[in-house]
This record gives sequence, C-alpha cells and structure tokens, in this order.
Amino acid sequence: MADSQRKILVTSALPYANGSIHLGHLLEHIQTDIWTRFQRMRGHQCYSVCADDAHGTPVMLKAQELGITPEEMVTRTRAEHHQDLLDFYVDYNNYYVTHSPENRELSELIYKRLNANGYISKRTISQLYDPQKEMFLPDRFVKGTCPSCGAEDQNGDSCDVCSATYSPTELKNPRSVVSGATPVLKDSEHYFFDLPKFEDMLKAWLKSGAIQSEMANKLQEWFDSGLQQWDISRDAPYFGFEIPDAPGKYFYVWVDAPVGYMASFKHYCNEHNIDFDSFWRADSDAELYHFIGKDITYFHCLFWPAMLEGAGFRKPTGVNVHGFVTVNGAKMSKSRGTFIKARTYLEHLNPEYLRYYFASKLSEGVTDIDLNFEDFVSKVNADLVGKVVNIASRCAGFITKRFDGKLAADLGEPALVAEFQGASESIATAFEKRQYNRAIREIMALADKANQYIDAKAPWVTIKDEDKQLETQQVCSLGINLFRILMVYLKPVLPMLAEQAEAFLNDKLDWICAQRVLTNHQINQFKALMQRVEMDKVNAMVEDSKENLLAKGASEPAAARDSELSKDPIGETIAYEDFAKVDLRIARIAKAEHVEGADKLLRLQLDIGGEMRQVFAGIKSAYQPEDLEGKLTVMVANLAPRKMRFGLSEGMVLAAGPGGKDLWIMEPHEGAKPGMKVK
Ligand code: MSP
Ligand code: ZN
Repeated sequence: MADSQRKILVTSALPYANGSIHLGHLLEHIQTDIWTRFQRMRGHQCYSVCADDAHGTPVMLKAQELGITPEEMVTRTRAEHHQDLLDFYVDYNNYYVTHSPENRELSELIYKRLNANGYISKRTISQLYDPQKEMFLPDRFVKGTCPSCGAEDQNGDSCDVCSATYSPTELKNPRSVVSGATPVLKDSEHYFFDLPKFEDMLKAWLKSGAIQSEMANKLQEWFDSGLQQWDISRDAPYFGFEIPDAPGKYFYVWVDAPVGYMASFKHYCNEHNIDFDSFWRADSDAELYHFIGKDITYFHCLFWPAMLEGAGFRKPTGVNVHGFVTVNGAKMSKSRGTFIKARTYLEHLNPEYLRYYFASKLSEGVTDIDLNFEDFVSKVNADLVGKVVNIASRCAGFITKRFDGKLAADLGEPALVAEFQGASESIATAFEKRQYNRAIREIMALADKANQYIDAKAPWVTIKDEDKQLETQQVCSLGINLFRILMVYLKPVLPMLAEQAEAFLNDKLDWICAQRVLTNHQINQFKALMQRVEMDKVNAMVEDSKENLLAKGASEPAAARDSELSKDPIGETIAYEDFAKVDLRIARIAKAEHVEGADKLLRLQLDIGGEMRQVFAGIKSAYQPEDLEGKLTVMVANLAPRKMRFGLSEGMVLAAGPGGKDLWIMEPHEGAKPGMKVK
C-alpha cells in the first residue's frame, strides 16, 4: 500500500423519517457506499454511519395523520429504510435513528458547551400561529396569495409563479395548511445560536479545500449578505428533544440532525469497543467526510462546523456535495412514474444495474445526474453483460470442460497483464477523488482490450486443434485473469457481482490482488453472473410508480399535491379500451360528514340509484359537508374498494382544480338521475 493506514469516518445525509427512500436518496447512498468500500479494500480503517432523521413538524403531523405515535412511526420507517438500503448493498456500520439516547446526550452536551461559551442568546419573536391546531406554523405549512404578483395558493416562503421570496407574514389571505384556519401572529421566546461569531473560522475552513471550489465560491454569497443569528428552538408541540432548562422549548430538527452522525457512530463504538473520542476530539487525526446533496449545503458548511468548533469538537475534513437526480431529463414526477421508490425499483430490477449506472455518471462535481432509461439499458447491457461478464463466459467453459477447471501455469502476454495491473493507481485515484465516471471509463477501456485479445486468439477455433491445446488453455487462463483484475477494480461498485466472481474464481479480491495473477489455480463452475436488463422491466417499474393523483386524493393532503396538479402537463395517453373500462355514474350525495381525526377528508354516502356507496374524498378544504348534501356529482363506480384507516372507500368522486379551496366536484345538471351512466 502506497500510504499508511488512514482512520476515516464517512456519513450520508440522514433521510427524513416521513417518506420512502427513492432514487434521489440512492444516488447519495451509493456514492458513499462505493467510496467506503473502496477505502476498506485499500486496507484503511473506514467506518460509515447513517440514520433516520426522526424529528420535526412534518414527522409529527404525518404520525398524527396515521393515528400512531411519532416514535412508532419512526421505528417503522427506520426499519424500512434500512432494509431498502441493504437490498442495494449499501452497508453502513450503523444505521440508527436521531431519536436515540446517544443523540439526546450529545445534543445536550453540545448545547451546554455552546451556552457556557457564550454562543446562545434568547429573544422574543412573533410568528404565525394556528389557533385551531394550537401550534406555530413552519413556513411550508402556511399558504396564501403572493404579496408580489397576487398568484393564489403560494407557499409561505416563496412564489412558484414570480419567484419572489418573502416571509410568511407577508402573504395575503394566509391559511394554515394543517387546519385551514387563518393564522394569527403570536409572540414566543426563542433561542439563538451566534453564527456571526464564527465568520473568520468559516471563511478559513471553506478555503481549506474541505468543499468543492464551485461550492465554496457560491458560499461566499452568504458572507456577502452577512451571517445571521440562527434560531435553534421550536415551541411545543414538537417532536424532538427538549432544550435543557427550557421547558416547552425543543431543539429545531436541524440542530440534533447532524449530531445524529456522532450519535450513530457513538452507538457503534460502544458496541465494538472503538475509541469514539479519537475520531471527534478537536485534535483528532481521523478524517471525517459528509456526503450530502446540494440543497443542504448551508447546514453542513455553516451551522455544523460552527457548532462543532464552538463546542470543542473537530470539524469535517470534507463535505462532499452532489447534484440532484433527474429522470429522462426532468425532475422526478409522481404522475409520470419517475418518482421511483427504492422498493419499487427492487421489485423489477437488479440493484447493481443502478449502482453501475450512477457510478458511470458520478463525478466530484455538483452537476445533476440524469437517469435516462434508454442510456441505462444500453450501458448496463453493453458494459456489464456485453463486456465484463462476457470475458469470463467466453473463457470459463473451456477451462472447466477441457482442462479440469485448472488455469495454465503460464499466461504469456506479460505486456497486457502489466497494462491491466498498471492501471491500478490511476483507477484508485479516480475513486479516491470521487471521479467514479473516470474510473468506470478506464475499466471499460481495459475490458475492450481483453475482448479484443480473445477475439484475436479465437479460443473456440483453436480448441478444435489438437496441437493448440496448451495455447488455448493459456489464452482462456489469461482471459479469466484479466476478468479477475477488472472485478477487483469494480468491486466497490458491484459488491454482489464481485462476490459471485470470487466464488467462481475461488479467490478473494482485495485491491492489492490485482498485482498478482492466478496460475496453476483451480476455478469453479461458471454460472451466468448477470442477466441483461430488458426495457419491459423498466417500463413496468415506471407503471408501478405512477400515482393516480385524483385517486390518491383520498389519502394524501390536497395541499401537498397542489403544485403538481396545477402544473403537470397532460401525461401519457391511454387507449380507448382503458377509458371504456371506467364506469362513471351520476351519484346523489345523500350524506356528507366530517371524519374524526382526518384533516382533509369528508365521508360521503352516495346514492347511485338504489345502491349506496361510502366514499372518502379529500375535499374538506373546499366544501362544508352541509353544502354538499343533496347535490349531484359524478363518481367512478367500479374502482376497486380501498381499505382506509377510517373505513372502506368504495369509489371516487371526480373533482378538479389546483387544491385547497379551489377544488370543484363535478356537478351535473338537474335532470340527471342517480345511477345514470356518464359517457
Ligand atoms: N434530513 C435531512 C438531512 C439531515 S443530515 C444531518 C434531509 N433529508 S432528505 O431525506 O430530504 O434528504 C436526504 C439526502 O437526500 C440529502 O442529501 C438530499 O440532498 C438527498 N436527496 C433528496 N432528493 C434528491 C434527489 N432528487 N437527488 C439527489 N439527492 C437528493 O435533507
Ligand atoms: Zn408571485
């Protein structure tokens, strides 16, 4: 090994515990996992940790909606997230949760030190408050009319129409997304972290190479506009940790979230007898890297290093920022079926296809990464199946059948072997610098050379010639050795393929193993290592990911889908036969009532001419139940019944509009009779 053993701790950003792991998250976890596996293969002491980010208002409200405690929800989601990641061979030393005793202890410790060092102050501020729900409203839980252009139904912090940014108190006609009530201003004492005191330290740290220069330049804007005091407290009700000696005040989720990196590692250290402090004390000789998406740079490159410094801990060696995943050139979209969850992917495709594809596109930069399905299919098939695995499958059969599974004593072609071995450091440097795309390019160029060699030697011809048996054995043995070296280099990216290759080669693959060859060596029976990827499977995955937004309306808060409903272009067309299957009927709303515990739903009893149907509709934001009774509407009468928490929903009423108050159910004219077919 060129360099001596390094001590490294690596983290990925902690996914929120109120949603599923999706392709965007996976980019980050795969990027981290490749780097970690590479470091371990090089013989370094490299630990990686992650966790679910459990706290905050959205998690609290989602749990309420599901009728369970936030603790229960977080426990469930953590297990799900962890399994998703394991199934993509993303292997953390510990996948924890921020709602943990270790995290409470460390968060309190850091806070107490910051307080003792004079970095915490208190001040009363005035914020929007939901009088019905009795809680303060985070920006994204307030909607209203844009103060700048007058567009309706805009978020609390910025306008999607004119891009103006403002504070939620400036919105016209504000309403609470949680209850629909009109928010009022209310005073409360908040705790602040004195970020401006760290300006010099932060400027120096950003210049130290801890972050990509393109990001460091961008961060300069923050200093130009002046650092601000950071509000670190939230009032009850809040799911989080209470601030010491401040009853009813909680740490803002972004305070204890990064501390969650430490806490997850601490838990691991305690169980494995590792010296936690040697990684975290101010003069630590260990390296610490955070892999994050560009949207959360602010937290990782300002608040977090300042908190660490202020509390006497070490700062990160590097914050590695990546761009966002797009699919077929556009933002992931639920209606187009490109918002793909980890689990949905796994139901259709091999996780290593995605690991390989992302690796082939990832660089050290922050540009977005496009998953283009055509490109995905052709790259996986051409590179992995057509080039790499092909080398082994072209050579293995002859060795097994004709030479008792034994590789030749001499491989010949020392120059070719030397070329493959000589690429080791260049490829290693590419992995080290997170230039995975370059690593993959170099590996595939070698794979081409191996295939050209085999083509030129045509062992399938020479095998028939009695005089050329030794030569054939040599050619195939060399082919298998070249395949082996490539699998060493690909092992951080394709751990499962490498494991299968190890079984076939009867050998263990560490980075250094590329420097020797297998001669006079017994190999095992070759089994097909990887299937081609079929476009049909990709299409099926996309189909499964499509969410019918109107049908979903029953269970999802309308407000969460507003922008998508109003902006989404007409998607794919459907065949007339598909349309003909939909049984639309006139229905009379016999009864409409509130649903206990549901913020968005009304329970409707629909009369479709002699038959009554119960339907839950997400239209509470737009209609009072009493106004609906007696009205005619149109329903989908042959929708498969859905079991919801509140009961069975036996159909769907048709409604249109961007959501919120602007949601209109279909109201056919008088004269229409309940039960009539609509078409
Ligand atoms: N909980 C915070 C992180 C706390 S870290 C102390 C959070 N969670 S998140 O679930 O929203 O995002 C987790 C990570 O996934 C972030 O690094 C984020 O940038 C990344 N991604 C989420 N969607 C993404 C894409 N579409 N593409 C690439 N990465 C994206 O933020
Ligand atoms: Zn506007």
